[in-house]
Amino acid sequence: MKKQRVLSGIQPSGQLHLGNYFGMMSRMIQYQEKNDLFCFIANYHALTTTPDKDFLSLNTFEAACDFLALGLDPEKSTFWVQSDVPEVTELTWLLSNVAPMGLMDRATSYKDKIARGISANLGLFSYPVLMAADILLFNSDIVPVGKDQKQHLEMTRDIAVRINNQFGNVLVVPEPDIEKTTQLVPGIDGQKMSKSYGNTIPIFDTEKKIRKTIMRIKTDTTPIEEPKDKDTPLFQLYSLFLDDDGMKDLAYRYDNPGLRYGDVKLELFNKVMEHFSPFRDKRDYLISHKDHVIDMLKMGADKAKIVAEETMSTLREAVGLGYDL
Ligand code: ADP
Ligand code: TRP
Repeated sequence: MKKQRVLSGIQPSGQLHLGNYFGMMSRMIQYQEKNDLFCFIANYHALTTTPDKDFLSLNTFEAACDFLALGLDPEKSTFWVQSDVPEVTELTWLLSNVAPMGLMDRATSYKDKIARGISANLGLFSYPVLMAADILLFNSDIVPVGKDQKQHLEMTRDIAVRINNQFGNVLVVPEPDIEKTTQLVPGIDGQKMSKSYGNTIPIFDTEKKIRKTIMRIKTDTTPIEEPKDKDTPLFQLYSLFLDDDGMKDLAYRYDNPGLRYGDVKLELFNKVMEHFSPFRDKRDYLISHKDHVIDMLKMGADKAKIVAEETMSTLREAVGLGYDL
């Protein structure tokens, strides 16, 4: 049976963090074993909010190193940088002509970004169409993402159906894959963990900085002798690293007197270090072997291009841009 194609991307708009890891990265890496995995660094997307050239190129490279260090295998999968396959911008243009303004106007991520003070530009507004193009260009069946991307996936499906109705069945309509337990990892302030909220625990920061950040996780002033609230960022973050027995144990400690938040923070810090330490040496190696990493990304782009060109030639004909008179 043909393997299902699983595709997702991540913006290199800052250091990758626990939300990215549990919401998307670790699941992608697991998918590569049994599926046809397509994974890319969405630098065109990051351009909508990242005006600093050096920051963008450094973060693009480091995001690639993070993925590779965590186990993404560029031989088993197709792993590339978005802008190395520029066909996606051509597809964005084609899709723009069927994306209704009403659908675009309802996109919440644009409104959220404007509300946070990011200046409005057309790229930011049409971001969901570029994301639809990423997905549809590669005939993706499944798209693993966090909950924040749910609306973008709905828009993608809507656009794909419109194209298929108008021009014949040329596109695969993808399914989102959102994992219930990791769909919304909280940041240290209890809001969604996000690079743009300054509330992240980066997976590969220095030990000192990770410790300092964990110690800043927001807690309340419940006295030691009273039970504690489990619907809080510290409990939720720690839970990500625990199995069922560990969860039961932590819940018991929260429900009974004696728990000190400082102890729990220290335990969480140890869990984070323990979980990611095995990957640190590989990451350091990759960071200092830039040409090797770039070669792997170029190889991925070559593989991705084959699919992209095929889809584009079908679509060009389908919409009337070919010479099929
Ligand atoms: P950020 O919000 O930090 O910029 P991205 O938008 O680049 O992160 O997200 C990359 C992937 O990680 C997406 O699939 C997104 O849904 C997922 N993700 C980001 N933050 C979280 C979170 N706090 N919880 C779960 N998944 C997340
Ligand atoms: N918009 C996604 C995010 O901010 C990143 C992304 C770009 C993406 N293109 C994609 C995710 C295609 C899945 C599929 O997280």
